[in-house]
Amino acid sequence: MNEVKSIWHNGRLVPWAEAQVHVLTHGLHYGSGAFEGIRAYESPGGTRVLGLDLHVDRLVASCRALRFDLPWSAVEVRQGIFDVIKDNELGGCYIRPLVYVGYGKLGIDPRDNPIEMAIAAYPWGAYHGNGLTEGVDVGISSWRRMAPDTHQAMVKATGNYVNSMMAILEARRHGYAEGLMLDHDGYVCEGSGENLFVIKDGDLITPPVGASILAGITRGFVLELAQDLGLGVREGRLAREMLVFADEVFMTGTAAEITPVRSVDRQPVGAGEPGPLTRRLQEEFFGILSGEKDDRHGWMTPVD
Ligand SMILES: Cc1ncc(COP(=O)(O)O)c(C=O)c1O
Repeated sequence: MNEVKSIWHNGRLVPWAEAQVHVLTHGLHYGSGAFEGIRAYESPGGTRVLGLDLHVDRLVASCRALRFDLPWSAVEVRQGIFDVIKDNELGGCYIRPLVYVGYGKLGIDPRDNPIEMAIAAYPWGAYHGNGLTEGVDVGISSWRRMAPDTHQAMVKATGNYVNSMMAILEARRHGYAEGLMLDHDGYVCEGSGENLFVIKDGDLITPPVGASILAGITRGFVLELAQDLGLGVREGRLAREMLVFADEVFMTGTAAEITPVRSVDRQPVGAGEPGPLTRRLQEEFFGILSGEKDDRHGWMTPVD
């Protein structure tokens, strides 16, 4: 962990080491929390946050879905994010807002407990390291994404990530960078922390929102870029063999950015290296993030 000076905790900046909770905090016991992962990038004009409003809106929506009464408005959350970046004099960084059910009663019913919030930010490099340029090896997981009547897959709830944790532990045990989970009907769904795309004959295909995926914000950006580049874009369920038939496969996420997949279950995808359209999408994506290319879709918000 790249420790910095301060963390925003329940409305004020506190020293990093003092942003703590009691061991009987409800969220620790029952996974009763919601969070976001956001990145800011340096550009010649200063630090800019990628997809700020989309992330804040998703956090607010996650809280609503979990029936948390969030005591801070979207405007205050936005300001908290800016404050923590500025107080720590951060350029490019990862930002982690977390809402959780706090200390009070220990019963499962959370209604008598406070809703608390923290926002941390710290420098962080590429999630999949040189996989960004070389591509990563992934495997199909034996763990499935949650069925719609179990957990709420579109909610970025802390409790949902036990599912992700099991998938990545299994993947790493088998020497893979990531595990791709199937949905409850057996279609390929997403990674433990990434959405999944397949490219076939110049068309991009990705599982639809509502099919047990997190509606990734990076996924949305890539769909916009694909349209800019004149690629066909389809949302559709992915049968497992589509990964073998695919010309290219890649994963998207705030952490993973656009990570090419070079093999699935030790079978090479296409030529077994990042494909030309994946590289083209990366070029556009990182060009906009770094300020080299025009922010034509209005993704970037300057820190102020
Ligand atoms: C399960 C899961 N799917 C997809 C994503 C990608 O979402 P986003 O692009 O909003 O970061 C993430 C990461 O947040 C995730 O945890």
